[in-house]
Amino acid sequence: MTQPGTAATTRNGQPRYDDLFRNVDQAEARRLHALAAAFDPASRSHLSRLGVAGKQCLDVGAGPGTLSIWLTTQTGPSGGVHAVDVDTSMLAAHPELTVLQSDVTSDSCAPGTFDLVHARFLLTHLPERAAVLRRMATWVAPGGWLMVSDFADLGTASSPYASYRETLAALFQTMAATVGSDINYGRTYPEPLAALGFTDIGLAVDTPVLCPSSPMTVFWHATIERTRQHMTAVTGVDPATVDTALELLTAGIWDLSVSMITAWGRRPAHSPSSPTPTKTAG
Ligand SMILES: C[S@@+](CC[C@H](N)C(=O)[O-])C[C@H]1O[C@@H](n2cnc3c(N)ncnc32)[C@H](O)[C@@H]1O
Repeated sequence: MTQPGTAATTRNGQPRYDDLFRNVDQAEARRLHALAAAFDPASRSHLSRLGVAGKQCLDVGAGPGTLSIWLTTQTGPSGGVHAVDVDTSMLAAHPELTVLQSDVTSDSCAPGTFDLVHARFLLTHLPERAAVLRRMATWVAPGGWLMVSDFADLGTASSPYASYRETLAALFQTMAATVGSDINYGRTYPEPLAALGFTDIGLAVDTPVLCPSSPMTVFWHATIERTRQHMTAVTGVDPATVDTALELLTAGIWDLSVSMITAWGRRPAHSPSSPTPTKTAG
């Protein structure tokens, strides 16, 4: 992996995350801080059960690094935390954090380097998610943990608010078409970890609610605003529907948001240097 830098550009004409969510004027960092505020309490709770004191941790696709920095408070001085992202402009400098700019669809690191490899809301957005997960699994030391969190839309399709429902459906369709995102990738967990030979598997579901000025309300408002032109071009969604959804969010509706599915597993203590698939998803 290389040293800190800025976002890469589109590779070989393939769609990628920063085609839609480039961090211009720190707007992406603000959007991701709202997402982190919604999900960090749950993620901290799940990470806490793994016991990272004195451990070497890697946070892949760290974004603004809220969890990476929190992890530094858990590992203590004898541990360490590396935060990796294709765009490190969102990662604030922190004395205990090692920041690396890297595209995980092409870069790798030595097998068995980390006691914990963590990635939240990264694989959702990578068309190469299966290959990246396989590669991340190799970075886990024998006896170490892999934890991944990704979205599953268990709530928005049944929203009683038609404009919110239709706008988010258009957003997910646009993300799939322009980035290759799969808003329901988390729904496949934990099978991909079991298939890679991980044991002591765990699974958790967290669904933050929308309410006036809640972090998810702020996140959806920012996400819809910055993607609305793409949404109209890709899906033909009525701009008036998008306006109404934004007005509802500003007014403050109570509703469900998307869910975060978190899966974790331990690499067997006596395992080969590269986990090998034991079965494939059906
Ligand atoms: C939705 S954000 C999640 C940020 C953070 N993990 C969190 O949950 O707060 C996805 C992050 O993955 C990063 N990312 C996207 N594609 C990447 C790639 N190919 N290599 C490394 N990072 C990538 C983005 O820059 C962004 O920071």
